[in-house]
Amino acid sequence: MFDAAEFVQEQLDATRKQVGDRHAVIAVSGGVDSSVAAAIVKEAIGDRLHAIYVDTGFMRKGETVEVEQMYRRMGLNLTVVHAADEYFQALAGVTDPERKRKVIGERFIRIFEREAPKTGAKVLVQGTIAPDWIESGGGNRDTIKSHHNVGGLPEDMEMELCEPLYHLYKDEVRTLARHLGIEVAERQPFPGPGLAVRVIGELTPERVQICREACHIVEREIDAAVGRGEMEAPWQYFAVLTNTPTVGVQGDVRAYGETVAVRAVQSIDAMTAMALPVPWDVLGRISRGITNHPALKDKVNRVVYDVTDKPPATVEWE
Ligand code: XMP
Repeated sequence: MFDAAEFVQEQLDATRKQVGDRHAVIAVSGGVDSSVAAAIVKEAIGDRLHAIYVDTGFMRKGETVEVEQMYRRMGLNLTVVHAADEYFQALAGVTDPERKRKVIGERFIRIFEREAPKTGAKVLVQGTIAPDWIESGGGNRDTIKSHHNVGGLPEDMEMELCEPLYHLYKDEVRTLARHLGIEVAERQPFPGPGLAVRVIGELTPERVQICREACHIVEREIDAAVGRGEMEAPWQYFAVLTNTPTVGVQGDVRAYGETVAVRAVQSIDAMTAMALPVPWDVLGRISRGITNHPALKDKVNRVVYDVTDKPPATVEWE
C-alpha cells in the first residue's frame, strides 16, 4: 500500500541532500506529475526552485491562464514563456508522429536551455513517472512513443537530474497530489506535446484551434454528464482531428470537411486502457456541439467515436 506521507518525507530528505544549497529548475506543465514534483521540491528548497511554464500553442482552451494562476497560488517562483510561434515554425510541414514528437521535444529543450541559465540552477527537476520511461524504451522495452519528457535531454546538459516521482505510477501520483492539496489532483492527464498529438497531419494554428474547441466541447459535455450522474468519470476524454476529410451536407449544399474522433477511456495506470461506453445522448450532444459550433461548423462535418482499447491502440492517436 502506497503511503503518501512517508513518500513525501523520504523525497524531502533525498531532495535536500541532493540539491544542497544549489538552485534547481523545473519545467511545469499544469499536469499532475510536474505539479506534484514541483510541490515536493519547493517544500524541500523553497524559492531556490525556479519553475518555467512554456505555452507551446498546444494547450487546451484557457489552460495557460488557469495554470499560471494555480502556480501563483502555490507560491511557485514562476516564469511563463509564450512560444507558440516558435513551435509552429519548427513544425511547418512535419506530419510523421515520431518526428513531431522529436521536434516538439527539441524545441522544448532549446527554450529551456535559453531560460534555465537565467535562474542559476544546477539541478534539473523532472516529473517523470514510470510509464514515461517504460514506454520510451526504458528497461529494454521497445519504443512505443518517445514521451516528451524523456530522451530529449541535450547530451551536454550540465545540470544534474532530480526525478522524485521516477518509480511511481499515475494512481500513486494522484494520491500524492491529494495528500499535498494540489488543485490539479483530479484533472485528467494531458500529454507533454499537448494537442499536437491530437491533430493528425500538419500542425497549423487553425487546425490546432479546431481540435482545441472540439476538446473543450468533449470535456464540457462529459463533465456535465458525470455531474448529472449519467456516466462514470473517464480517466481521459478528448477529441482528435483525424485528417480524414469526408463528404457531408450543409443545408442542401455539398460540404467536404474534417472528421473529429471522440475518445474516452478508463484506465488505472495508462499502460492499458478500455474505451468507455459513453451514453448515446451524451455522444449526441458532443456531436451536435461540435458540428453546430460557429467556429467549427464550416470545417467539421463528421464526428465518430473511438471504441478501441489499449492495446491494440494507444490512448492518444499519435
Ligand atoms: P498513450 O497514448 O501512450 O498514452 O497510450 C498513455 C498516457 O500518457 C499520456 N501521454 C503522454 N504524457 N508525455 C506525457 O507526459 C507524452 O509525450 C505523452 N504521450 C502520451 C497520454 O495522454 C495518456 O494519458
